[in-house]
Amino acid sequence: MQLLLMGPPGAGKGTQAAELVKKFSIPQISTGDMFRAAVKEGTELGKKAKACMEKGALVPDEVTIGIVRERLSKDDCAKGFILDGFPRTVEQADALTKILADLGMKLTRVLNIHVPAEDLIERAVGRRICKNCGATYHVKFNPPKNNSTCDNCGGELFQRADDNAETMKKRLSVYEDSTRPLIDYYKKIGIYTEIDGRQPIGKVTEDLIQILSSVKD
Ligand code: AP5
Ligand code: MG
Ligand code: ZN
Repeated sequence: MQLLLMGPPGAGKGTQAAELVKKFSIPQISTGDMFRAAVKEGTELGKKAKACMEKGALVPDEVTIGIVRERLSKDDCAKGFILDGFPRTVEQADALTKILADLGMKLTRVLNIHVPAEDLIERAVGRRICKNCGATYHVKFNPPKNNSTCDNCGGELFQRADDNAETMKKRLSVYEDSTRPLIDYYKKIGIYTEIDGRQPIGKVTEDLIQILSSVKD
């Protein structure tokens, strides 16, 4: 299954991708996570990405397309994958079609997690992530049992540098301008499904699994 999880910043792509990884045993490919790892390691890619991410702007297409091409060529993607946060521009979507065609693949399904703009800032500002295992929490909607440590591994929780109200406003406006057009792009191809992302996390997961149970491949 070659899946694409779409949705605005804070919609729940990462949260749901983690569940689908467990269910289908295929890797999650999150360009945001790849950029954050590169920033942490201080690589050339990290230096390029850091300035864009802090501003809430997109990393240039040629950089992003290059890392996705490399990642999708790895053996663990041969049985399928879950793209999270890529593509975000029409140029990236065209490049993805080409990359997959070169690998003898195509997208099975595009799943768009729909959440209205007014809910998204609260979701991002309240997000907490485990430094150790990457598990995602929310102070109100999905709180850890203990205030400051991860339920899975006891790791310390942190807040992403771009999870503040000001940067979120910029990220949302970039989404409207550059990424929302991909909804029509994939509707036209006929592989698009929308999920109501305002429901509780477990219900969104159920809906996704329900949709995917009728998808062959
Ligand atoms: P990226 O890391 O992809 O950020 P994003 O798209 O803005 O999305 P988020 O990770 O913020 O949200 P999410 O949908 O994963 O939500 P989550 O599950 O965590 O990208 C960051 C930056 O990297 C970009 O700004 C850009 O600079 C760069 N970048 C990345 N990809 C790029 C690309 N392709 N091209 C160019 N640049 C790129 O959930 C959010 C919170 O809500 C959590 O606290 C969670 O617990 C909570 N929550 C989840 N579901 C629910 C629910 N159903 N109800 C209540 N709360 C919920
Ligand atoms: Mg994410
Ligand atoms: Zn953890």
